[in-house]
Amino acid sequence: MSILGRLAGMFEARKWTGDMYLFEAMYTIGYVAPLENTGRWAERLPASFGVKRLDAEALDGGAVAGCDAVLLPYKSEVSPQALVRRIRLDAGDVPILVTDVPCDSHLSASLFRAGVNDICCDSDDPEQFSDRLLHHIEKYRLRERQKQMEADLSLEVGNKTRHLENALTLLNRAYEDTLESLVVALDAREHATGAHSKRVALYTMFLSILAGVLPEKWQSIYRGSLLHDFGKIAIPDAILLKPGKLTTEEFEVIKTHTVHGMQILGQVEFLKDSAAIPRWHHEKFNGKGYPDGLAGEAIPLESRIFAIIDVYDALRTKRPYKEPLPHAECVKIIVADRGEHFDPALVDLFVGVPENAWDQLWESAGEARGYAAILDVSLDAAYRYRSERG
Ligand SMILES: [Fe+2]
Repeated sequence: MSILGRLAGMFEARKWTGDMYLFEAMYTIGYVAPLENTGRWAERLPASFGVKRLDAEALDGGAVAGCDAVLLPYKSEVSPQALVRRIRLDAGDVPILVTDVPCDSHLSASLFRAGVNDICCDSDDPEQFSDRLLHHIEKYRLRERQKQMEADLSLEVGNKTRHLENALTLLNRAYEDTLESLVVALDAREHATGAHSKRVALYTMFLSILAGVLPEKWQSIYRGSLLHDFGKIAIPDAILLKPGKLTTEEFEVIKTHTVHGMQILGQVEFLKDSAAIPRWHHEKFNGKGYPDGLAGEAIPLESRIFAIIDVYDALRTKRPYKEPLPHAECVKIIVADRGEHFDPALVDLFVGVPENAWDQLWESAGEARGYAAILDVSLDAAYRYRSERG
């Protein structure tokens, strides 16, 4: 009688379901029948091992589901190597043992290479069989537990990461909302309307993208543009809001808003990288600006871009002391300062953008809130501009 025939016989008193015996077994051993001359292995198995008959023709990963180990006969119509390949395709590393293997080192090596976990030769001690089987099952269960723990851990880490990302997104939005509300209030203090800073932030983003500024700088450029005049919070109303011409001393005080802006932003961790525009947006390409008198490319690129945008928006908008100028007039004034106040290459880039592109950005500035929205509008506008220019 075959080994698994005997195994089945051990459980004759149990209920046979047609496929397997139902009993209080701790382990389920799948076996492929027929097995020949292997009853001696089964006789030594403790009652805690249950068996499940498997059909060699239909053997695959699904068929061995629920098995803690699989026994394959060495002698059968289908080679054990072929059966192992079919099981391994989708049943992971369930232990597979081949019984009654002739004592031949080449045969053994071939089976191990095929993915067999252990073999039982004719000359092996049957008393050690259940111990070896149990050893493989325990290692398999341990590996499965580890895999499950790793999967659970990975899932938990993924969930926590998503929660953290959501929290950071909300926090970031709160930062952006706070900044925007603050600059609107500051704009309203000086100008009749409170949209100047937001508009120049959008214009600067757009022109920076056209100028080829790297994406990693975009957010700091947006924040720096938005907060370019933040230092004016330190300027007394009597000077900042004074109607008429400022004295030389008063203008010196006004100039300090650049340094104040940088100092204030420098004390806020998430705004430190955004300080270049507040500090150097009044520098001139010819070196005659303030506060540091930087010239040419010594002025950071984003500050040179912003300088054009800041003047353009001031010219195009109505202020208490002036009427708005048409786009063409603004462009003329900026071109007249090409190479003096403004970087000539950036002026050329600016002049190439048609009036309707700036008008569309103007419209969008009123609706877009936060960096992500401003970035979307800027990228769309840059894409349209490049498409139209071919
Ligand atoms: Fe300024």
